[in-house]
Amino acid sequence: MKGRSFLSTANLSPAELQQLLSLSQNYCDVNNNHRLLPHKLLRGKMIAPLFFEASTRTKVSFERAARNLGADLVDLQIGASSIIKGESVLETARTLQAMAIDALVVRHASSGLPAFLADNLHIPVINAGDGWHEHPTQALLDLLTISQEFGSFAGLNVLFLGDIRHSRVARSNLFAMQTLGIKVRMAGPPTLVPPEMKALGAEIVRDIDQAAAEADVVYLLRIQWERQQSGFVSSLSEYSKLYGMDEERLALLQSHAILLHPGPANVGVELSAAAYAWPRSRIEAQVNNGVAARMAVLHWLLAGD
Ligand code: CP
Repeated sequence: MKGRSFLSTANLSPAELQQLLSLSQNYCDVNNNHRLLPHKLLRGKMIAPLFFEASTRTKVSFERAARNLGADLVDLQIGASSIIKGESVLETARTLQAMAIDALVVRHASSGLPAFLADNLHIPVINAGDGWHEHPTQALLDLLTISQEFGSFAGLNVLFLGDIRHSRVARSNLFAMQTLGIKVRMAGPPTLVPPEMKALGAEIVRDIDQAAAEADVVYLLRIQWERQQSGFVSSLSEYSKLYGMDEERLALLQSHAILLHPGPANVGVELSAAAYAWPRSRIEAQVNNGVAARMAVLHWLLAGD
């Protein structure tokens, strides 16, 4: 992987995913026990996070991951950069490359922008979320969370519930989960579950209560208002009642089932406060695992095996 970019989960083999997950699990211990730090594998490396869209988890966890490994970070604020004077994203990236930056971590509203940069640069580009397209490091941390719970993947049944149409998280997870033998089901308002998901391998289900009762993992997704021009949902209260996770629906879940959400969550819309705090909710574990998963990706791309 050294020198490659990390743009998608679609091109990762089962062995590559398992290696990344194994490395991520090792880094969980390092991240959660600061006595094991500093780990200076990436001493002398310089990483530039370029976030053109809002982020809390992904940006901070990449920064923490880089620092845990001994790398330095460029603090480029997009709103105070020469982008404001009309410089293109590609020219901005080339400028950073010319300063011997070692890798870019890019979030942008345009699907395919990180891949476009990777095609035009000779340093690794990491996709930190591009439009509706993919969020591959989110899928990695989700799989790490699932593996910590279940040990293995084959035969697990995961239900994605909510705004599938605009979800880069659902796409990256769908690719990686199928590679690992996980059965993926998707449900939500018909306007927000595009038929293309069936062509990509997901089973689209209409009976949410039955699908929830059969799932090992229920993965809730936020309605992405920022990506919608027209009304895909008639009312929030109706959405919450029909597609949300509340105490009534929680009661249907199997005793071993877990609840995931990539965050940020709209509590009261796609899940109730009780669901967020449910003992088998693993939402905070996902956040914690984000640092370790991103350490593994930086390790792979910048230091190799
Ligand atoms: N899950 C996720 O990408 O969260 P942020 O938008 O806070 O980075």
